[in-house]
Amino acid sequence: TAAPDLAGRHVVVSAGGTREPLDPVRYLGNRSSGKQGYALARAAAARGARVTLVEANTGIPDPAGVDVVRVGTAVQLREAVLKAAADADAVVMAAAVADFRPAVYASGKIKKQDDGGAPTVELVRNPDILAELSADRALPGQVVVGFAAETDDVLAHGREKLRRKGCDLLVVNEVGERKTFGSEENEAVILASDGAETPVPYGPKEALAETVWDLVLPRLRPAT
Ligand code: PMT
Repeated sequence: TAAPDLAGRHVVVSAGGTREPLDPVRYLGNRSSGKQGYALARAAAARGARVTLVEANTGIPDPAGVDVVRVGTAVQLREAVLKAAADADAVVMAAAVADFRPAVYASGKIKKQDDGGAPTVELVRNPDILAELSADRALPGQVVVGFAAETDDVLAHGREKLRRKGCDLLVVNEVGERKTFGSEENEAVILASDGAETPVPYGPKEALAETVWDLVLPRLRPAT
């Protein structure tokens, strides 16, 4: 059994992929299964933390000893994460959050056009939850962790994203149609705002989860 080194702590984890509805039958989504986020939540619970897991569209059953909040869209995920973060020692954003949503939700199913044309979907930006959490910490010393899903120039994009988002740690992983999304394994480099870079070799998502908490631990504010 794990050492209870997160006992007395409240941590928030987001998992899964948001779905942005276009009409009553369609949405814009992504390939996140939620496995990495659930591994993080289970690992923190095993280490003694009180865990709030905000999940989007994973279909995974609730892990034992974890408070699960189920959401659908990026806007709903933002609301649930900010609420849970109010008294959290750490927040880990493993969810794949849509950067854009359809500008208009059609209340009826969008029909094929008589002239053979196809509709144009206008998109608007979603709020950047990680940037907001990092800029407006709910508590002094709250640790904010992001993930970066990249397909190319993974480390360069990761370093840039760490600066832009302002989080304490950024877990940079490579993704593709069959890479990382949905699989049991992951491989990453964890970048810290102090410049430290920790490579995590290819292995179970549980192992990456443990390393994330190992790096969060020394950055937590003194326990009260
Ligand atoms: O779910 P699995 O199948 O196990 O796959 C795991 C994973 C690939 C989804 C996970 O490891 C991962 O990389 N999650 C982050 C996916 C993502 O949205 O990456 P991004 O580079 O687009 O976003 C960077 C960070 O900002 C993320 O922490 C994201 O949660 C956050 N974000 C993004 C957009 C937005 N509008 N608000 C955000 O808070």
